[in-house]
Amino acid sequence: MSNETKACRHVAIIMDGNGRWAKAQGKPRTAGHLVGADNVRTIAIAASELGVEYLTLYAFSTENWKRSEDEVNYIMKLPKIFFGKYMKEFIERGYRMRMIGELDRLPKETKRVLDDAVEQSKNNTGLNLSIAINYGSQRELVLAAERYAKDVKDGKIGLDISNEEFEQYLMTADMPNVDLLIRTSGELRISNYLLWQIAYAELEFVPEAWPEFTPEVLERCIRNFGNRDRRFGGVKNE
Ligand code: FPP
Repeated sequence: MSNETKACRHVAIIMDGNGRWAKAQGKPRTAGHLVGADNVRTIAIAASELGVEYLTLYAFSTENWKRSEDEVNYIMKLPKIFFGKYMKEFIERGYRMRMIGELDRLPKETKRVLDDAVEQSKNNTGLNLSIAINYGSQRELVLAAERYAKDVKDGKIGLDISNEEFEQYLMTADMPNVDLLIRTSGELRISNYLLWQIAYAELEFVPEAWPEFTPEVLERCIRNFGNRDRRFGGVKNE
């Protein structure tokens, strides 16, 4: 197998278990989200040091609006706290911030903070740190299909397109597909995350809640990935 098929360029993580972790310590759920946000920095640094080029983290799904108003409001305030603490360091480290999701539906101030992080780091060439916020993969695919249909109607593109051409309509356009998907906190679900992009990803489900997910656990997941035999639907190369 070539090194290329083994490279773990893009890691996606479903950061689950903040609420349960906080409750288990007698704290409010929001305390788990705050520690969880700090752990984003820790894991981003570790991923970059382990040679990961793209780290895509699920912070808020299109379904998460169903949570209590207090919790939603708190999560919407987190980007300001998070980038206020760490943006300078991310710039120094050369990280490029990206967002996937329907940002237009976020509170104005939240969107402003996120847009600002993307803008400030757009010329960086280090780790691509993407935050999925108000993101849902089925919605992403519908929006991509709508945009594609419009381009066909406007005569900009033909009806017969490749997978790669269709990918340019996704929110992850110009990013490689996911090599490794990790979900924390023991749940065995994909939860509408990057459905197209994980087509050939290896999957790791770990028992640790997101606030307990350490660089060592990440390293173990990446090591497991390296030991697997990815065949992309082909047969094993002897
Ligand atoms: C899942 O735990 C976590 C969330 C829905 C929110 C995740 C948000 C962060 C970690 C903050 C990141 C934000 C930025 C801007 C970097 P859960 O609440 O579903 O946990 P539970 O399953 O125990 O209830």
